[in-house]
Amino acid sequence: MDKKIFTIFGGTGDLTYRKLLPALFNIYSFQQLTDFEIVIIGRRPYNNQEYVDITTSWVKEFSRVDFDELVFEDFTSHIHYFQMDFTKLDAYDDLARFYQEKRFSEHIFYFAVAPRFFKNIADGLKTIKGLKKASIVIEKPFGEDLKSAKELNKELEASFGKENIYHIDHYLGKEMVRNIMTIRFANPMFSAIWNKDYIDNIQISALEMVGVESRAAYYDHSGALRDMVQNHLLQILSIVAMEPLGPNSKLSENQLEVLKQLRIIKENEIASQLVLGQYEDYLKEDNVAVDSKTETYAALKLFIDNKRWENVPFYIRTGKKLNRREMEVVVTFKKANPDAEANVLIIKIQPNEGVYFKFNIKKPGNSDEIIATQMDFCQSCDKTFRINTPEAYERLLLAVANSDSSMFSDWDVIETSWKFIDDLVAKANKKQFELKQYRKGSNGPIESTLMLQNDGFSWFEGFQKCRKCECE
Ligand code: BG6
Repeated sequence: MDKKIFTIFGGTGDLTYRKLLPALFNIYSFQQLTDFEIVIIGRRPYNNQEYVDITTSWVKEFSRVDFDELVFEDFTSHIHYFQMDFTKLDAYDDLARFYQEKRFSEHIFYFAVAPRFFKNIADGLKTIKGLKKASIVIEKPFGEDLKSAKELNKELEASFGKENIYHIDHYLGKEMVRNIMTIRFANPMFSAIWNKDYIDNIQISALEMVGVESRAAYYDHSGALRDMVQNHLLQILSIVAMEPLGPNSKLSENQLEVLKQLRIIKENEIASQLVLGQYEDYLKEDNVAVDSKTETYAALKLFIDNKRWENVPFYIRTGKKLNRREMEVVVTFKKANPDAEANVLIIKIQPNEGVYFKFNIKKPGNSDEIIATQMDFCQSCDKTFRINTPEAYERLLLAVANSDSSMFSDWDVIETSWKFIDDLVAKANKKQFELKQYRKGSNGPIESTLMLQNDGFSWFEGFQKCRKCECE
């Protein structure tokens, strides 16, 4: 493999400091990639050392491997800070010269910037002659809606070729998201009954304690539906619901089938299938419009119109400034008989990783009473598992370096999920859908609880923590 050159546009941004550099450092520490250089593009006038000094504390905090000064020093010798304004076309001449001088030729360009800059960068890169092979890594959100996403896609594919574009959805790189497939397909006890005859309802939650932090300039134009549902949650839903993968089938193709079968929510059903909320004092956050109607919480009830899932509700929710960080998939099965409780399978994605299963036994003793009990596998409790589990970005960066596109979103998947979300947003806007306020550090708007209660369900809660240890 030739030396890989990662050029990161947005090299002084949050994503680079928190995720990309720690991930590259981990990959380096494990010697999974040693022949590479990192070119950091930033507007600020730093030299290499000044930049490295800034990154040190971030890498210390966010790297999953123990911080070793010597390894870090070696690692940083691969970092080159390059000052430029990436919105100026002529600045790319200097960048081209820099690559030439260093004999950098096998490029991976990472667009860790707001989508409105993607075109600037693509136009600039096109002016660089002799890029031997360029892979383009695009952060989500890909576009701001279906229309802008389509334009962007056309532009990028024409410039760099479809096969060289990697759309990152970091949820696809999460350990337990990948594990959903193994749990489903490697266990006949689940795969045989993964359908409407045995499953009552499915819940997918992605709850966060953080607010918009310093990202409101982006987030206030996006909101929970576009920031989390359009990509991460629909990705997970489609993996949970897709048909089994055949020996030659591609994950994204099976996901796409599900997304195409998502039942469009009708205008007159919106009130019973959608809850949008905004946390208190959101309007006081920096860079938020004083009259912003941006939702920081969304809960939806969805159906998939195919034979497997006929009339099985999928409840999904996500929100910021809630009382806990919790991401999980909860599968509730149909009761075997009225005296038994429902079997429940919970795939814990984060912060703890694990699998919980609730099932029925005879109450020990002289009665035949049925009682529910549970098995709780805590993956995070096991130190070896923890050490061997790469962060999502490590997995994805390594995959790009190996030209492996299997963990990335396909354009068709992105397009189909944008269509679904655009339609929903348009209907909600038309109806002047009411935004529910919720307290910071709460469970979100009460209407979300009521949406499930109306169907005779409630959100599963409190299963994140491992009962055996404090592994958080
Ligand atoms: C990002 C969203 O894609 O995912 C953020 O833009 C969100 O708003 C983040 O906080 C959540 O990622 P994770 O890995 O912390 O669940």
